[in-house]
Amino acid sequence: MSKKTYKIAVIGGDGTGPEVVNEGLKVLKTVAAQQGFAYETISYDIGGERYRRTGEILPDSIFQELEKVDAIYLGAIGDPNIKPGILEKGILLRMRFEMDQYVNLRPVVLYDPRFCPLKDKTEDDIDFIVVRENTEGLYCGAGGFLKKGTKDEIAIQESINSYKGVERVIRFAFDYARRRNKRKKVTLCGKTNVLTYAFDLWERVFYKVAEEYSDIEAEYANVDAICMWMVKSPEWFDVIVTDNMFGDIITDLGAMIQGGMGIAAGGNINPNGVSMFEPIGGSAPKYTGKNVINPLAAICALSMLLDKIGEQQAAYKVEKAVKMVVKDKLQSLSAGKMGYSTSEVGDLIVEYLSKNSN
Ligand code: IPM
Ligand code: MN
Repeated sequence: MSKKTYKIAVIGGDGTGPEVVNEGLKVLKTVAAQQGFAYETISYDIGGERYRRTGEILPDSIFQELEKVDAIYLGAIGDPNIKPGILEKGILLRMRFEMDQYVNLRPVVLYDPRFCPLKDKTEDDIDFIVVRENTEGLYCGAGGFLKKGTKDEIAIQESINSYKGVERVIRFAFDYARRRNKRKKVTLCGKTNVLTYAFDLWERVFYKVAEEYSDIEAEYANVDAICMWMVKSPEWFDVIVTDNMFGDIITDLGAMIQGGMGIAAGGNINPNGVSMFEPIGGSAPKYTGKNVINPLAAICALSMLLDKIGEQQAAYKVEKAVKMVVKDKLQSLSAGKMGYSTSEVGDLIVEYLSKNSN
């Protein structure tokens, strides 16, 4: 039987996106050669630049091609000169919603205590993952204005929570905790004391699904308390499952305690379809084109992509290389302070992989 050639769509996007994705692609080339798998990349030019040039956001013809690949690798979308919401909704949220990428998976892993802003926390303390619902909640865009532009104006934005949507993401979280096989715990992050409809549903479904996973501990905490514990006792967490909005917020907090946006990656996952992987730091306009941005978040996103397409060993090797390079070489995880340029950090990962090929 001939071996499969993975098709990977590459969207460099805006700002520093193309620079970090380039480093990821260098790493992909190395690890593919080592592991002996074949792939082809197809680059798509979408983002702020295309929008300003042509008025197109995400043409349907491209969307249809993206629906056929094995995975999407994205750098960043966002342009300070374009009104907030246009590119985000038209590209990122469109992919998440229309490709039914219902899990936004965000690991919070500290590779080196030198880069943790929390006192006395080590690698053992910061190692959890957030499973963020990615297709519902406040992100649906349900709502509207009444009497817009007057002092009687009313703005309504509703949170949509379906039984099905909640159940599938909770189930993913329990399966993930089992596969991770670490603390074997899932924490539901909600707000049952105030959002008494939405999180009533979440909590009921959570404990019902939990019955099927007697090997996994299930616990509940309010989102405000979770923020407190993420700073005070992050070692408490293993897998956190939550809705779209809370997930958005707590994962930025998570990124900071793991060392910053330079190292924070995420996957937008449809377990049965096409998933998209990205560094979560955004387009970082002020660093664009300077070869100073940290590419490790994008390289971690690549590791997640490899895991999803079925190349677990390659994924593990890339993650290990990131960890070792962070520990042994980098002075900082922040742009311009790493002690190396963007491309040099990519080269360090390639070099580590080449020297540790077994
Ligand atoms: C993220 C981002 C997006 C979100 C924005 C850019 C729409 O902040 O991926 O977390 O809110 O989901
Ligand atoms: Mn966010």
